[in-house]
Amino acid sequence: MGSVSNLKIDLVEVCEAAARACAPFVGSGQKDEGDGLAVDAMRTRINEVKMNGMIVIGEGAKDEAPALYDNEKVGTGKGIGVDIAVDPIEGTNLFAKDMPGSIVTLAAAPEGAMFRPGSCFYMDKQVYPKAARGQIDPEAPIADRLNQLAKSLDKSVSELKIFILDKPRHQQMMQEVYATGAKVRLATDGDVNGAIQAVLNMGSDALFGIGGTPEGIVTACAARAMGAEMFGRMAPQKDFEIKLCEEEGVDTKHILTRDELVTSDDCLFIATGLTSGAYVHHVKAGHDAFGKFMTTDTVVLDGGIGNIRHVMTTLHV
Ligand code: FBP
Repeated sequence: MGSVSNLKIDLVEVCEAAARACAPFVGSGQKDEGDGLAVDAMRTRINEVKMNGMIVIGEGAKDEAPALYDNEKVGTGKGIGVDIAVDPIEGTNLFAKDMPGSIVTLAAAPEGAMFRPGSCFYMDKQVYPKAARGQIDPEAPIADRLNQLAKSLDKSVSELKIFILDKPRHQQMMQEVYATGAKVRLATDGDVNGAIQAVLNMGSDALFGIGGTPEGIVTACAARAMGAEMFGRMAPQKDFEIKLCEEEGVDTKHILTRDELVTSDDCLFIATGLTSGAYVHHVKAGHDAFGKFMTTDTVVLDGGIGNIRHVMTTLHV
């Protein structure tokens, strides 16, 4: 029987193709142009992958950007059924400004394994490293959660660093973290990047805060693949979104566990660096004896076999 894990090299190539296509626009100030190129390249390559895939979590609805669409069928239509979540450019502002943390990202899991968020574009997330799995009460006040986290990591609370998006909606949360003595790593955009730092425990010890739901599902695959911890609560922010969520009966109080967000261990998280980052390098372009080339750096978190793989690819273009 096939597994999603077996598709990883093909799906790495999907992310690499998107990264090469949009890389010339890094630092151009033009985020939609770059996003459009990444989407087109991703769509072309993913349709060559032997699978019966469906985009269950696309992007674009939140901010009307170019997108692979929810319910879009992808792949050759032959092979195993696969749920796909994509964010062709995660951190479009970072991409346009050549600031750290922009990636191409894709997650995959067996058909039916990914949570369907309906019209809810924002999720309140908590992400912790593997050592904290089962040790955190997601409903406890921040100070208590930080104590639980510090204990599981064998650190003092003042040694903890929490990644939070620098948004007005997070001001109170930041103050609560500062009050414990823990530190905050702020970024204007890119909470997948922050979450992966927490999952890999590279640079941050946890991610807190409200960000995109597509990014949340992608993150859940990363957390599950690595045995890390995650919680998510639907948290609609925009008026039209709040109304749609009310109509759809979305439960905005229930805290979803990692295993509700993705129900299978056979899941993949893939990220290719666009700008410099904590765990992947940016795309490099150059010229050698064989002509022009581009080098991409990709990380694959593979729940099917429980490992981390780094793929550096140089292609002459
Ligand atoms: P984009 O790549 O779609 O611009 O998303 C960047 C991002 O910062 C995500 O990482 C995060 O989940 C979301 O936007 C937060 O949304 P908002 O900027 O609307 O608060």
